[in-house]
Amino acid sequence: MTRSRIGFFKICVIVAALTGSVAASAQTADQAWLRYRGPGGRWLVPLRVHALGNGPLETSAAFELQRGIDHLSRASVLWRSSAFEGETIVGTVDEVRHAFPNLPVPSDLQPEGYWLSWFGSAGSLKGSEDKAQLIVAGADDRGVLYGAFALLRQMATGSDLYGINLRSHPAFPIRWVDEWDNPDGSIERGYAGRSIFFEGGNVREDLAPVAEYARLLASVGINGCNVNNVNAAAQLIDSGHLQQLARVASAMRPWGVRMALSVDIASPQKIGGLATFDPLDPAVKAWWAAKVEEIYALIPDFAGFTVKADSEGQPGPASYGRTPADAANLLAGALQPHGGIVLYRAFVYNHHADWRDPKADRARAAYDIFQPLDGKFAANVVLQIKEGPIDFQAREPVSPLFAGLRETSSAMELQVTQEYTGQQRHLVYLAPMWKQVLDFDLHVDGKSTPVKEILAGHAFYRPLGGMVAVSGVGRDAWLGSPLALANLYAFGRLAWNPGLAPDQIAAEWTEQTLGIDPRGFATVQKMLMQSWPAYENYTGPLGMQTLTDIVGSHYGPGIESSENNGWGQWHRADKNGVGMDRTVATGTGYAGQYPPEVAKVYESLETCPDELLLFFHHVPYTRRLHSGKTVIQHIYDSHYDGAAQAATLVDEWASLQGRIEPKLFADVAARLEYQAGHAIVWRDAIVQYFFKLSGIADEQGRAGHYPGRLEAEEARLTGYKVINFTPWEDASGGKAVTCGDPPEKVTQQSCSAEWTYSGKAGRYNIAVQYFDLQDGTAHFAFKVNGLAAADWAADAALPSKRPNGDNSTRHTVRGVELKPGDALRVEGAPDGADPAALDYIEVIPVAEKDSGKNVN
Ligand code: GCU
Repeated sequence: MTRSRIGFFKICVIVAALTGSVAASAQTADQAWLRYRGPGGRWLVPLRVHALGNGPLETSAAFELQRGIDHLSRASVLWRSSAFEGETIVGTVDEVRHAFPNLPVPSDLQPEGYWLSWFGSAGSLKGSEDKAQLIVAGADDRGVLYGAFALLRQMATGSDLYGINLRSHPAFPIRWVDEWDNPDGSIERGYAGRSIFFEGGNVREDLAPVAEYARLLASVGINGCNVNNVNAAAQLIDSGHLQQLARVASAMRPWGVRMALSVDIASPQKIGGLATFDPLDPAVKAWWAAKVEEIYALIPDFAGFTVKADSEGQPGPASYGRTPADAANLLAGALQPHGGIVLYRAFVYNHHADWRDPKADRARAAYDIFQPLDGKFAANVVLQIKEGPIDFQAREPVSPLFAGLRETSSAMELQVTQEYTGQQRHLVYLAPMWKQVLDFDLHVDGKSTPVKEILAGHAFYRPLGGMVAVSGVGRDAWLGSPLALANLYAFGRLAWNPGLAPDQIAAEWTEQTLGIDPRGFATVQKMLMQSWPAYENYTGPLGMQTLTDIVGSHYGPGIESSENNGWGQWHRADKNGVGMDRTVATGTGYAGQYPPEVAKVYESLETCPDELLLFFHHVPYTRRLHSGKTVIQHIYDSHYDGAAQAATLVDEWASLQGRIEPKLFADVAARLEYQAGHAIVWRDAIVQYFFKLSGIADEQGRAGHYPGRLEAEEARLTGYKVINFTPWEDASGGKAVTCGDPPEKVTQQSCSAEWTYSGKAGRYNIAVQYFDLQDGTAHFAFKVNGLAAADWAADAALPSKRPNGDNSTRHTVRGVELKPGDALRVEGAPDGADPAALDYIEVIPVAEKDSGKNVN
């Protein structure tokens, strides 16, 4: 038997190289889910790891396994005592077969797949030592790495490894993340600090976090990373920057993550000195061929290009009367000899559409533009299609383009970064949404055609396909919010196996990340699973899309921002009804882009599911849903329900106190408390908007009626001025008060608002609703009869420099004794350009939840 061993010296060198990068960085994969905390049961695993080969990925696999096993065995005494001598063997199937000729090593593992197998009984391996063996065999180098991480996942989640015989391979060849990072270090739609890749126009010196990120990605099977914004800076592919980017590729390479780049299709003109970027011009073609040669000379495993063209102001082939296929094939031709691919984005639409035209419809654009080009794309072109036809809304139907491309490979683009789903300040676990999309049956040619089968290439026999997530990681703990990392984890797991259940993924992630007992992780799993339905309820139910400020932050409520402009995110609310008519019979015809079975369901008011009704139909507020409720009552109810669900998350997390690291516990508790307050802002904005517009009463009497609420504009004001709010629905009653006029610098020292309490004597929580603006840290104090009950700083980082629903924030002062006649006073001290603006206070009996429940 010939078994090549990594010698002791070699192991030391590798360990030093891999840990060296970790030590230099404050930001490590261990801070996400690779914590190897140790499960609470009994496990058998050979503690010593032995790599059969010495390729870089196999070395990473062996190193990671050893690190994980060491941590896990240290973390659990029980675990340690039940472990025993023997070896955990790591290698490709060829290496394993060679080393253990008698093992039944599978001969049909799919690319990147792995086999985990236990051979425990002594002497079972002819010629092997008289010890137990745990085998991690990969179809190829990447398979070895993914097998190692799979084994660690099994250990960290407490699976019994004795007798394990597990094989797995990824469903899709393309499993990428897209970073929207700019050379200056900012991140488009990123909510976790600055770029780990770039700063000041260049690649960062310290790439240790990049290596750690690649490790994290590899742990869930992600094999590609596009490192720059799709709104691409052309200079990134000039020679100087390519040299720098080669360092990024090297940092990710040990983890099997190939680097890709977004390119500006006008680069030949912008940085190449050509007079044109016409995709059919021979000089342009030659320029790209040479550029790609240059890239591969520096980065031999370069993955390819992502292209956003003719979209939202980006240059494109339309300038020359050429098609997206002409542009995609130009790049594909240059990449093809090197094995690279082009991910051409189907996110192309006219953002100057005519909102008065009842037939205009942004949702139609991708299908109208790309479906007729089916069959015209080169084999190494993949169309990257956003999961829905608009733009990562709280809910959209699946893009019909997936069904429209028979001769073109496609990949689904989705967002881990929560641009339209609470920007990581709100807990919104998106796996259930993605799973619905992946499982959605498009019924092509009358046959069952789930989207995941199209992406896997099975439905139309395509060689490429997969999933791409816009990830948005930054230097602030990867995604800013600890629980938001569940989305990155879930993306990788679903891209590997779209058959996994979101709640199972949630449990896996929780167990690895929080390491709490089964009752504890059941609570977190439940919270994660409740979060998307809650968010959809309090933002935009019935397919109205996220009713946010679409021309600004994409964060807080801003219902009319989608109307009367060219961006085409219209929901067409008027005094009689709401919704976009996208039917073939009377609307834009979008419903007809689906295969007939699906089109029929959406076309008819009778069969269109409630959750998408207003995406496909314009209906009166009095229309009854399948649920039996009217549309308007559903709008009211879902917002109250959603805000109550957000409040429940606070309580559920609170039940874990003492069982989670105190720092993490407090961090998440504060975030959830904020979210519950902001859910009330959303609820009130949308309910009062539709109440005023429709004039229809809420059957439960909540709309326009806020028990215990005392408006700032009705208080005795000293210094504070009443303002009419924009948008009006973002402030209670459409008015608030400010101590000076933002955004200019505010000069006043302080202002106050005072009310006389006239309710029953008792114990109350007082919610103070104020606006926490950027550019300044205002201070607030709440006093009863002149005595301070609480003070706090408005120091959150929220969008917008003027008071609106983005920064409307709730601070709750708990357990205040009140009696009739008490003077309740809020004092606001402005700072910088933050005028300590105030909306209202709400007096809530302690027994009641401050979740907006009727407390009369
Ligand atoms: C959204 C997002 C933009 C982004 C665009 C895209 O519109 O707000 O910031 O550039 O999507 O996907 O290209």
